[in-house]
Amino acid sequence: MTKSPSEHSLSEARAEHARLHKEISAHDRRYYQEDAPTVSDAEYDALRFRYEELEKAFPELATAQSLTKKVGAKPSEKFAKVKHAVPMLSIGNVFSDEELEDFVARVRRFLGLRDGSLRFTFEPKIDGLSCSLRYEKGHLVQAATRGDGYEGEDVTANVRTVGEIPQRLDGDHSNVLEVRGEVYMTHKDFAALNARQKESGKTLFANPRNAAAGSLRQLDPKITASRPLHFFAYGWGEASMLPSETQMGVLEALRRYGLPVNPLTTLCDSAEDMLAHYQAIEAQRATLGYDIDGVVYKVNDIALQERLGFVSRAPRWAVARKFPAERATTILRGIEIQVGRTGALTPVARLEPVTVGGVVVQNATLHNEDEIARKDIRIGDTVVVQRAGDVIPQIVEVVKEKRPHGAKPYEFPHICPRCGSAALREIDEKTGEADVVRRCTGSLVCPAQAIERLKHFASRNAMDIEGLGDKQIEFFFDEGMIKTASDIFTLPAREAHMSPRLAEREGYGETSVRNLFAAIEARRRVPINRFIYALGVRHVGETNARRLARHFGDFESLRETASVAEPGGEARARIDSIDGVGPVVAEALHDFFAEPHNEREIDALLKEITLEPMPAVASTSPVAGKTVVFTGALERLTRDEAKAQAERFGAHVAASVSKKTDLVVAGPGAGSKLKKAAELGIEVISEDDWFARTGQG
Ligand code: IVH
Repeated sequence: MTKSPSEHSLSEARAEHARLHKEISAHDRRYYQEDAPTVSDAEYDALRFRYEELEKAFPELATAQSLTKKVGAKPSEKFAKVKHAVPMLSIGNVFSDEELEDFVARVRRFLGLRDGSLRFTFEPKIDGLSCSLRYEKGHLVQAATRGDGYEGEDVTANVRTVGEIPQRLDGDHSNVLEVRGEVYMTHKDFAALNARQKESGKTLFANPRNAAAGSLRQLDPKITASRPLHFFAYGWGEASMLPSETQMGVLEALRRYGLPVNPLTTLCDSAEDMLAHYQAIEAQRATLGYDIDGVVYKVNDIALQERLGFVSRAPRWAVARKFPAERATTILRGIEIQVGRTGALTPVARLEPVTVGGVVVQNATLHNEDEIARKDIRIGDTVVVQRAGDVIPQIVEVVKEKRPHGAKPYEFPHICPRCGSAALREIDEKTGEADVVRRCTGSLVCPAQAIERLKHFASRNAMDIEGLGDKQIEFFFDEGMIKTASDIFTLPAREAHMSPRLAEREGYGETSVRNLFAAIEARRRVPINRFIYALGVRHVGETNARRLARHFGDFESLRETASVAEPGGEARARIDSIDGVGPVVAEALHDFFAEPHNEREIDALLKEITLEPMPAVASTSPVAGKTVVFTGALERLTRDEAKAQAERFGAHVAASVSKKTDLVVAGPGAGSKLKKAAELGIEVISEDDWFARTGQG
């Protein structure tokens, strides 16, 4: 017979409590992280009950570490990561008939198709969340969310609860087929779910998409199972063999395999046809029973899709036509000034909450000072708010007739609301015009800028330190534990001497601290391009960071060059001349690297971390890293296509032949460039040779 807790001595109770702590934690791990519980819910509840009873009898056992104290902090805070074999990229948008016509013309130009048929699929753009389903020999083996496009979250256990998604595909199947599509929730199910949430006092979902995402990204698959989710397949990722040569053909095959494909999917022969289908679906939109936020057009012929390829993160062969923005009127309650990473003062409208296109809107962007003056927006005004898709809501105009008496024009602050430094609008030396953005000049003393810089540094596309999101950065900054980027990496060592320890603080448990420190350790080695981007130099986004990494190869060369890149000097010219990097970026780099404070911080960072080379794109290709010039009439490729192809193989395309050129691809009629190449002794090959060399037969 087990003793009742009150019959225990304190030391007996302590021993049993410790044993239960271990046992329950292990069950939690198996249940939440491994999706493989080894006890029934009733057995688990009994352990938990006994654990709590012990604490009631001996309150001294209820320390900060107790499992009963970990409210909200789930045993596992994350899903396993899945690297996508083929990235899940995004798609470009058009908002008008003209833009759609331009898209079609662009595709034709790229392919060198003057006339002749070119077909597109027309697909509704489902407003849910994209998901990749991996089938091996016809069996569902893994499901992942999109994540950042390259790495998503493993939601296999949850996807298995979605009735519409087959565990096994109909028919015989070769090795791998990754099916991509959208998980969504219908209007009816969404309303019912929110009614249930309301009844049980839980927070309501803003729209069906959030509800679908919240349901799929549940650590407990049982909760997902209780939420009615649906799926439409619209594409594929890795595939050992495709069942058709066309987009439409593949979708039809997926339907035969048992996957849902949207019944409104169809083919279009011309831009007029594409526009007509768009108008028809826009009229039908409200009666579909699920949200669509537009339509997607894709080149039907897969061989042409491959020729068109991708530009940055979106395919050239597909485009989304978004529905126009939805509008509503509400009252402007106040204007808040936010201070960004580069000191920019951004006004944000605080609104009386209003529903716009199914979403409750309380904040809207006001862009900048001039915009407020131009629209004469005053606090207390009735304003028209608009939102389109994922875009931040905007204020379109003021309803002047409803302006309250005595409302005064808004005065934009001339000092930073966070640090009190002067906030100025820079004057462009050439044009004499003031920048639209007013900036806080207290870069090094302004806490708002410091926090925003840290958020950027740790963010997903920069250093990608998991568990160090915006909220955590604010916490660590306010507590004085992380003031600069290098402090992130010294935190684990410093934390060991802190009292109280982090795990003893509210909101932090042992698991989350362990996970955070592991995430920090994991990023002590990072690719150089991520590091350059993470520094947050003005005008240096991900693309420029990659260009700089590629050009300089190692960080020290970039740093040395940029720190001495005075206007008019040789170093400045070198940066200026990097393809795609212009004088504005060169100046920003110089300003950044010449600043002693930044130099000290970079030294401190480089003591903590090791930079790795940028992950190579197609580095195995024999033209990778080479500078190529195309000249003369090309017969198999248009110029755009040739350039895109070269870039895909890691080569760099230049417009003219110089000492830096490695290879000239010449077609008939090539003239002066060919001569120059001969003078400089540069290798010249034909278009066919180019295909052979790049392994395209
Ligand atoms: S194709 C490389 N087709 O829209 C092509 N996307 O804004 C990738 N979506 O991430 C997308 N319906 O989540 C495609 N019929 C459809 C779609 C669709 C909904 C979503 C998807 C994608 C996003 C792009």
